[in-house]
Amino acid sequence: MRTRRTARNVIAVFAAALLAGSVAACGNSDTGGSGGEGGDKKIVMGFSQVGAESGWRTANTTSIKEAAAEAGIELKFDDAQQKQENQIKAIRNFIQQKVDVIAFSPVVESGWDTVLKEAKDAKIPVILTDRAVDSADKSLYKTFLGSDFVKEGRLSGEWLVENTKDATGPVNIVELQGTTGSAPANDRKKGFAEAIAANPNLKIVASQSGDFTRAGGKQVMEQFLKANPKIDVLFAHNDDMGLGALEAITAAGKVPGKDITIITIDAVKDGMQALADGKFNFIAECSPLLGPQLMDLAKKVTAGEEVQPRIETEETTFTQEQAKEALPNRKY
Ligand code: AHR
Repeated sequence: MRTRRTARNVIAVFAAALLAGSVAACGNSDTGGSGGEGGDKKIVMGFSQVGAESGWRTANTTSIKEAAAEAGIELKFDDAQQKQENQIKAIRNFIQQKVDVIAFSPVVESGWDTVLKEAKDAKIPVILTDRAVDSADKSLYKTFLGSDFVKEGRLSGEWLVENTKDATGPVNIVELQGTTGSAPANDRKKGFAEAIAANPNLKIVASQSGDFTRAGGKQVMEQFLKANPKIDVLFAHNDDMGLGALEAITAAGKVPGKDITIITIDAVKDGMQALADGKFNFIAECSPLLGPQLMDLAKKVTAGEEVQPRIETEETTFTQEQAKEALPNRKY
């Protein structure tokens, strides 16, 4: 009798343990949908990156990959090699694979409506990061996370106005633009032009794209130097083009930072080093560390939460003295 009761008790305890186990397992798979730790269903993000054109881009890619791993988000990463058609192809692939969310940094501003509509029809939320699109239909994407490029151009122009206020005679400026048609090239050009507009002695004598690369910056600066006997200022839309231009300026027998004042945008480590060394004169920061915010947004939009349509990155500016101070702690 006692033996039968003991056996019944053991079975009851075992059954209770099994039940508790299966309840816990159900709980885990529920949290999996939001990418929670220990869940079996991770959020899958398709990410189309512009390319690997600059130090900024490399730091941005690292930030996104690290943040995805940290957040438990499965990342399908595609490098578009600075070509819009590659990005469109990648986005279509992500749609076919039924990813949970698509994020991308558009190479250029226009020409996205058709593919964004395809994503919307497939009910896959899209997040723009770093660069914007010029689509009139704002319902084609959930939010745009990135810098204010017009402001970066304006801050660069304002620094120049302030630092040339005692100049007598004309100040000749050459401009190295970023990738033609890209938001940062369009906006930085606009902001800079607006900031110097009230000063007719500040004149942009040449402006051309160096495609955001060092090689491009060097090559175009060589042309500028050949065609323009008097260049006082270089405004480069990013550090890498400025760094390429340094080689051309030195090869032409001029001293960068002295004979030619150099203003750039980004503040990546190599740019900050050039600024601290007195070869650049001013940098407006553009932060590439967008990964953690992007992953937070991905979790929210896949959970159906509302997010702000525009999220602006916090940034600053650097003079030569400020670069010397900041450089030892610069991570990228
Ligand atoms: O879109 C951001 C810009 O793209 C960075 O300023 C530039 O370095 C990069 O190539």
